[in-house]
Amino acid sequence: MSTITSLFPTHIYRADKAGPDTLTAELEVAALSLSRDDIAGIKWCEKHGYNGYTSYASLNDLAWRIPVFQKLERILDRHALAFAKALHWDIKGGRPVCDSLWVNVLPEGGSHTGHIHPNSVISGTYYVKVPQGAGPIVYEDPRLARMMAAPPRKKNAPQEFQSHVSFRPAPGSMLMWESWLRHEVPLNRAEGERISVSFNYVIGNRES
Ligand SMILES: [Fe+2]
Repeated sequence: MSTITSLFPTHIYRADKAGPDTLTAELEVAALSLSRDDIAGIKWCEKHGYNGYTSYASLNDLAWRIPVFQKLERILDRHALAFAKALHWDIKGGRPVCDSLWVNVLPEGGSHTGHIHPNSVISGTYYVKVPQGAGPIVYEDPRLARMMAAPPRKKNAPQEFQSHVSFRPAPGSMLMWESWLRHEVPLNRAEGERISVSFNYVIGNRES
């Protein structure tokens, strides 16, 4: 008799309707106003060829500056703690603490190439506006670079065997993953803007 054991799972944590519609609507207004008024951020995007707007490099205190981001952060804190428990992390009385949180406004033709989020433990995105045809988020098998001569997977293989897996979340939903997991947002082919709030968590001791 033979058996196969699966080891080293890669978890994606998903919460649909993580925030009420009113919060998502407020976030949309705040994100669009930042994309018009954050001059330092707009200049950073121009300089670095970022097609669209991100507050990633210009504003590191959104939750302090604008109350709606603080409301969002409180919701995210609860999910990050639940995710840490699901991952069986031994965090010795600590808890996941939001280290950074930023807005992304991706217009038609915008994309975000494959990347990881260094120096954090949980990363994720809360979806604010996802027009019809907007790009999904695509996760890549973290072992891909080690596979060398491994054959490709069959197109109809179960999701957990695929080397790239797409999620297309609805507004109000949220995804979290471990920060080492490489992901990308392919070209936004929708006419409207794709708006999201991304974040990084570290392990800390702050009460929330
Ligand atoms: Fe990312």
